[in-house]
Amino acid sequence: MRKFYVTTPIYYVNDVPHIGHAYTTVAADILARFNRLRGDAVFFLTGTDEHGQKVEKAAKERGKTPQEHADTMVENFRKLWKSLNISNDAFIRTTDPQHKAVVQDMLQKLWENGEIEKRAYSGWYCTPDERFWTEKEVVNNNCPECGRAVEHIQEENYFFLMSKYQERLINYIEGNPSYILPETRRNEVLGFLKNNALGDLCISRPKSRLSWGIPLPFDENFVTYVWFDALTNYYSATKYLSPTPDPQSLIPEYWPANHHLVGKDILTTHAVYWSTMLMALDMPLPKNIFAHGWWMSEGRKMSKSLGNVIDPHEMTSRYGVDALRYFLFREVPFGLDGDFSEEALISRINTDLANDLGNLLSRALTMIQKYREGLIPDAIDSKDREGLEKRIKAWFDATSDTSIRKSYDDFLRQLQFHHALAQLWKVISELNEYIAKSEPWKEKDEGTLFNILYTLAESLRIIAIYLYPFMPDTANRIWQQLGINAGIEDAMHQSPDIIDWGAYMIAGIKTSKGEALFPRIEKAKGVKMETKAEKAEITENLIAIEDFTKVEIKVGKVLSAERVPKSEKLIKLQVDTGEVRQVVAGIGKAYAPEALTGKKIIVVTNLKPAKLMGIESHGMILAGTDSEGVLSILTLDKDIKEGARVR
Ligand code: MSP
Repeated sequence: MRKFYVTTPIYYVNDVPHIGHAYTTVAADILARFNRLRGDAVFFLTGTDEHGQKVEKAAKERGKTPQEHADTMVENFRKLWKSLNISNDAFIRTTDPQHKAVVQDMLQKLWENGEIEKRAYSGWYCTPDERFWTEKEVVNNNCPECGRAVEHIQEENYFFLMSKYQERLINYIEGNPSYILPETRRNEVLGFLKNNALGDLCISRPKSRLSWGIPLPFDENFVTYVWFDALTNYYSATKYLSPTPDPQSLIPEYWPANHHLVGKDILTTHAVYWSTMLMALDMPLPKNIFAHGWWMSEGRKMSKSLGNVIDPHEMTSRYGVDALRYFLFREVPFGLDGDFSEEALISRINTDLANDLGNLLSRALTMIQKYREGLIPDAIDSKDREGLEKRIKAWFDATSDTSIRKSYDDFLRQLQFHHALAQLWKVISELNEYIAKSEPWKEKDEGTLFNILYTLAESLRIIAIYLYPFMPDTANRIWQQLGINAGIEDAMHQSPDIIDWGAYMIAGIKTSKGEALFPRIEKAKGVKMETKAEKAEITENLIAIEDFTKVEIKVGKVLSAERVPKSEKLIKLQVDTGEVRQVVAGIGKAYAPEALTGKKIIVVTNLKPAKLMGIESHGMILAGTDSEGVLSILTLDKDIKEGARVR
């Protein structure tokens, strides 16, 4: 029995999960389910990253201890994973006592081996990102990553002597082509390592500044840097959370992991920090770190301030869990960025899911009902026709040249999810063509007709197995409608060869055609489409007039406007709303600053101030964006005085 260990990043417990978090976790779920079907001993781990300044601060603001705060927030993730049908074997929290013990153990070993040193240190610190930056990296006193202001800090700290491992890491990455994937990311990491001197890594924070962390085992006055703590989860979990192996299976250790799935933004911490930590501890490295791309929304990075964050709950309540799972992995190659669009999602549902897949099942079952009273007939081999039945059988025959098994498995092993699905849909489309070509409704010969019906039912039975990792619920529903009284995963465990043609007795089974797998989603032109679920949600979302009047909206006059340096979108405006205020707005792609000066606009004036790329904003300009992405700011119909209240 082979073991298969896959991980997601552990998510910051403070965040509300969005589509980006869902993306990595569903990817890991697909791999876990695929490998479980193949009979491997699987360990699929996800969890939450719970220490650090942000958690400490958020807890304080809510009058809670950091632990109480984390205990509440962690439920957001657990709930989402449940609703997305995620089959994780364990959920790690960095506040678990067993995890803390492993982190301390690793630190102690590094300390005793002389891999950690205490030094005076001064540098620029970004509190929200909990990261130090060098003088060179800082941009106008702002963090080069998030754009927020950095502080200059001087203190003593402990350093992991990471620089020692630079050469060894380069050699390792060069010698192991699939260690970091996709290749473009691997080249970026290599380029970085070859062109920069790797520094040592500050792995402590003085308790006087931050107490919410794991104490260093060799100095009580310090806690562990969150990234050291967080990365260790991948190993610590194997010590106390991995599934208990079957005593006869001889599955020993889950470490090293087969895949760490991460977003491209956190590749360096994994490829450099984690790899060198393991080297220093003489531990095996993971087999692969895969950095996937980012989902954007309306062409931009998702952010709360832009209000374009995609909520996975909202998507699944409108379109269903499996439709979302399918879309995320069919639409964009894993590794590239993509723009999340509901239009594209609806189009995938209507075309691929309702039309191609749903109709295929429904046509097959309708014919079985009509010509055989719902009973799947037996096939008669002598009736197989070249180019029709024989051709279809060949796709599902592992030994044939056109077998989809090999290509599908290869694609999944390389995490090319979209290719695996495309492959499957080729077969689905050809099966629809097969119905058209073989014209069962005109068939006079009973044996030939039975063959057609059997071929369709048997193809659908096997296709469901291939669909299962991506859409587990749909796949099982296909089996139910075919009348198969078993779950796909259980059946595969009992006899793995049922993925082959004819290896499961379906002849004589009574089918039970049910509801359409994916009802079409109607969308009148130019009107925002509403499904039943959404209608219910809209009613629940109604607000009372008192809620609306809490929002203070005023007419403002733009006194001046200029672009925020290094930003395509942001414009800084001085606006007179009765008093002069500075507002930063993400309208720079649609408007030139010159075109704004003198304009009367509409501003929300009682929002809490926010910082965008380090610049304070006291209000929000109202604007609309249509489905084509055209953005228009709100102006006045008649000229009225600035400062006038809008309601
Ligand atoms: N806590 C760290 C990870 C520690 S792992 C040892 C962290 N957490 S996070 O919650 O901020 O982000 C987790 C993951 O979400 C990252 O892999 C990140 O790339 C991913 N995403 C965040 N926004 C995303 C999109 N818009 N699209 C796709 N993934 C994105 O970082």
